[in-house]
Amino acid sequence: MKRIVVVIAVLAFSAGAVVAQQDQVKRTQAMMKDNGKNAGALSAMVKGDKPYDQSTVNAALAQFEDTAKSLPTLFPESMKGIKLEGDYDPSPKIWEDKAGFESQIKSFAKVVADAKGKVKNLDTLKAELPVIGKQCGACHETYRIKKG
Ligand code: HEC
Repeated sequence: MKRIVVVIAVLAFSAGAVVAQQDQVKRTQAMMKDNGKNAGALSAMVKGDKPYDQSTVNAALAQFEDTAKSLPTLFPESMKGIKLEGDYDPSPKIWEDKAGFESQIKSFAKVVADAKGKVKNLDTLKAELPVIGKQCGACHETYRIKKG
């Protein structure tokens, strides 16, 4: 009897771990999708498709900052080799070259913190957005895989 209880407990625990993993994957992907939306909103202003709006800028930069803070825990070891729904997968290099990945996170955090103090109008946005975009791209180039 005791044994059965233990087996059930173990099963329940591993099912819980799978759910936690799926939640984590969803959180990570949702966060990156929000980054994409915010970067799109900023680039619409730069292109002149939308008027400059400080509160949109502030919200986007706050979300990038939040991403920079979360990135160190967004890709736990348990996600290695995972396939996501959608066009992109995380590259195994995230876990194989941890130091490189962490240095990308640091560079990203730095340019975001920098931009936060600087972007006050369209001109400064035009100057800062490419700097941020370059860091998004630098990380994606090595640590994100575009499917098929
Ligand atoms: C330190 C690395 C890193 C940085 C910095 C980074 N990303 Fe990503 N991004 C990834 C990885 C890894 C993936 C693939 C996993 C995924 O899709 O969740 C990804 C996926 C994405 C996706 C695809 C989401 C999906 O699955 O549909 C978008 C859009 C995106 N990133 C936008 C951005 C933008 C915009 C920035 C900058 C403001 C940024 N990312 C900064 C690593 C990074």
